[in-house]
Amino acid sequence: MGLSPKHSPRTPTYLFPCVIALSFFSLTGLLLYKVDDVVSRTGTVVGHNLEPTPWHVFPTKPFDEETRQSRAYKIIQCSYLTCRNAVSGGSGRLGYAAGDAKAKAPTCPDFFKAIRRDLEPWMKTRISEGHLAEAQKYAAFRVVIVGGKMFVDWYYACVQSRAMFTVWGLLQLLRKYPGLVPDVDLMFDCMDKPSINKTEHNSKPLPLFRYCTTKEHFDIPFPDWSFWGW
Ligand SMILES: *[C@@H]1O[C@H](CO)[C@@H](O)[C@H](O)[C@H]1NC(C)=O
Repeated sequence: MGLSPKHSPRTPTYLFPCVIALSFFSLTGLLLYKVDDVVSRTGTVVGHNLEPTPWHVFPTKPFDEETRQSRAYKIIQCSYLTCRNAVSGGSGRLGYAAGDAKAKAPTCPDFFKAIRRDLEPWMKTRISEGHLAEAQKYAAFRVVIVGGKMFVDWYYACVQSRAMFTVWGLLQLLRKYPGLVPDVDLMFDCMDKPSINKTEHNSKPLPLFRYCTTKEHFDIPFPDWSFWGW
């Protein structure tokens, strides 16, 4: 008894391309779904490296097809390539903006006194790569600004929405003062309790930004903008 003619077309050679095609379509579908999901849920910064942090997940917003596509394009471009128009509205950039600021603000505002006091421990020694490498051991994240573009490296989760609003605040700073924010490399911790004890770190003060500090600590105070994000 051989196979009936009815069954002969259903040979493995026929089946194999079907399976391949089916898997290809499923994978493409899954990929599109994932991109869509990221696009609709992402508030500010993109990347799977954000997942362990308890970032505020924005409620899914309905986007029409065109904005959805342009958003996806922008996210992919900003994640893996360079952002075009990273600093929008900064047509003059360095030149006129810097001149403007000088003309309008010949003296620093009064609160600069507090900034000088907070950074005083590094006035003579300056801040070296070694300082940063040590401070990194206490940091939750690192912010690097180069040429008006910001990069963030996450070391551990921040409570509530602190990480997002701190990063968001810096992004707004870049947007508001295009060309005026110098290149900088900052170590940041987002818990309240200061950790760089002046007695213990007397020989090498570590530059670590944090929302709180005391006279007995080197921790550099920084505004907690997440108060406006609750
Ligand atoms: C700083 O460290 C010293 C020495 O370990 C300790 O005696 C002091 O209480 C610490 N200060 C604070 C504010 O924790």
